[in-house]
Amino acid sequence: MQTTHSLHFADARKQPLAPPESVALVVTSPPYPMIAMWDAAFGAMSPTAKRALRQGDGARAFEAMHRQLDRVWRGCFEALIPGGFLCINIGDATRTLSGQFALYANHARISAALTALGLTTLPDILWRKPTNAPNKFMGSGMLPGGAYVTYEHEYILIARKGGRRVFSTAARQTRRESAYFWEERNRWFSDLWTDLRGVNQSLSRAERERSGAFPLTLPHRLICMYSLYGETVLDPFVGTGTTLAAAVAAGRSSIGVERDPSLADAVEASLANAVGIGQAKIAARLAAHRTFVSARIARGKALAHHNETHNVAVVTAQEKQLQLRAPVSLTRTGKALRWHAAHAVI
Ligand SMILES: C[S@@+](CC[C@H](N)C(=O)[O-])C[C@H]1O[C@@H](n2cnc3c(N)ncnc32)[C@H](O)[C@@H]1O
Repeated sequence: MQTTHSLHFADARKQPLAPPESVALVVTSPPYPMIAMWDAAFGAMSPTAKRALRQGDGARAFEAMHRQLDRVWRGCFEALIPGGFLCINIGDATRTLSGQFALYANHARISAALTALGLTTLPDILWRKPTNAPNKFMGSGMLPGGAYVTYEHEYILIARKGGRRVFSTAARQTRRESAYFWEERNRWFSDLWTDLRGVNQSLSRAERERSGAFPLTLPHRLICMYSLYGETVLDPFVGTGTTLAAAVAAGRSSIGVERDPSLADAVEASLANAVGIGQAKIAARLAAHRTFVSARIARGKALAHHNETHNVAVVTAQEKQLQLRAPVSLTRTGKALRWHAAHAVI
């Protein structure tokens, strides 16, 4: 199986992001409105946001920033196939402006924008980042009435273009091969993810100091949950290219858009690691499944089905044709920011 991956240095507000109805899944994390590290990015996109921030008008700055993101959500909507999914990792912001401490609920504003576009909003995931600083509190210490809850979660918003996806006969077979294990389903489709740590976000050569990158497991898991082998995943805010690398690792094609060309080396570095990461992920998934099977049998619970490709017992008939495909090579085509990957069951 072959996949293709392309990167475009462009402003994601300028459509189209991809040919209409060509993308099965969008996985992305935008610049977060009202988080200070993204003020310059929003200021460059919106003079209104810049002015409002200078004047300490939080509500107006918040709305002006989201109006820029709204344009990108529209482009995603147009690129998605009917029944395709949109997964957005976003954190809310806490900030003091004009002496007033407040929460700016980015997740709620984006969710409302997706509904207004005609997307169907679905149950979201709370990503609770394991913290190394459990006593990092905000406000008046031990005196009641002036302290604030410590904010250590982000959201993964999930929406779908229209109703349930209809699969062609050919896609139905690929869907069976793209299945995940029963015990993975139980973990992945939980509304609370606590097992993903944040990543080191330092950038060595780009103009910015921090990337805002998410851990590769986050897009990788979403890609396995919401798309089939060979389908196309879009990230309109590509950053260091984590989603593109996750698509290589998971056997999907990908399209990335990023405004900041100084991130080219960071994306190249992410892709350079993707084949090794993809192979390690497959080995780890298979090893974890074998451990699960042994533990279940030790508890006296037999598994009713068998997966011949991997010669393992499985819980449900839906896992019988499951194939874990890993990337075996990734080649850059000429000078363009375009890559081909080959994938196989290894
Ligand atoms: C939160 S970061 C994404 C990080 C990425 N998920 C990763 O793992 O590296 C948001 C990215 O969006 C980019 N960006 C901001 N405005 C943009 C625009 N209008 N069009 C395209 N990219 C934009 C920023 O330069 C930044 O790299």
